[in-house]
Amino acid sequence: MATHLLRLGDFSKDELFAYIDRAIVLKQETAAGIRHTQLTGKTIAMIFEKASTRTRVSFEAAMYGLGGQVIFLSAKETQLARSEPLKDTALVMSRYVDGLVVRTYGQEVVTELARYSTIPVINALTDLFHPCQVLSDVMTVIEKKGSLANLKVGWVGDGNNMANSWIEAAAKLGFQLVLACPEGYAPQEDLLKEAQDESGGRISVVRDPVEAARDADVINTDVWASMGQESEQQERLDVFQGFQVDRQLLSHAKPDCIVLHCLPAHRGEEISAEVLEGGQSVAFDQAENKLHIHKAILEKHIA
Ligand code: CP
Ligand code: NVA
Repeated sequence: MATHLLRLGDFSKDELFAYIDRAIVLKQETAAGIRHTQLTGKTIAMIFEKASTRTRVSFEAAMYGLGGQVIFLSAKETQLARSEPLKDTALVMSRYVDGLVVRTYGQEVVTELARYSTIPVINALTDLFHPCQVLSDVMTVIEKKGSLANLKVGWVGDGNNMANSWIEAAAKLGFQLVLACPEGYAPQEDLLKEAQDESGGRISVVRDPVEAARDADVINTDVWASMGQESEQQERLDVFQGFQVDRQLLSHAKPDCIVLHCLPAHRGEEISAEVLEGGQSVAFDQAENKLHIHKAILEKHIA
């Protein structure tokens, strides 16, 4: 039976660490010039309904890097844009390719595709989650900090898809996560409650960014208006004043705190240019690690 990757909450701690451990090995092997061929003869289709630079290119490069093939489809050029049901799309795709990587709006789209698909469906971002991104982010934290033990991770900004996947990661992997979000922009209540119960109280939501930053080992942020929220951009610019990750906020964290941003970044909004491009930022390492984590994901799900 196909194993889908729709959200981190569907996996155990050991399974999540296995992706990261494997990605670290694949990264080392690639650096050593080892050629991988484990997906020779396999093809994935990627259906993207939203823009992407990193996720698209790193999934494609990962698939080719393992010897496989990719068919990229912009959703608006498929019959989905003319209301062909997701069910029929899943049934047809299952006859052509060995896996589907999907970027879309509603989480119910990937859930529906997975229901009818006999091939693995991998979530490459929905409005609710960005699981593959957070795996590469956690990999980056482990590379920089050695392990997740005793780490405090602060999230500053919107309680969005990235925040939700960080919440699921914290619940499963057991690190402290303090999210500072403006009123009305906290992560989804039911999802948060479930993760808090699982984590034994190591996940909290506060209003003050300084509380998230204080003594943090990791500070993490993301855009104030995600894809699909363009009409709220101006209103969000007002609401999120005071939530910028800048030198002042960073002064409350541990001196060796690292700063994460999944990119694309809006310099001068959620993060200052100085911090994004400064010595504590690991944003471009996160971006690189997407390639390696996607190889690990494809190897596990498609091989
Ligand atoms: N971080 C990330 O998912 O980037 P893209 O939107 O460019 O894929
Ligand atoms: N929260 C952002 C992440 C982009 C990678 C968005 O959904 O647009």
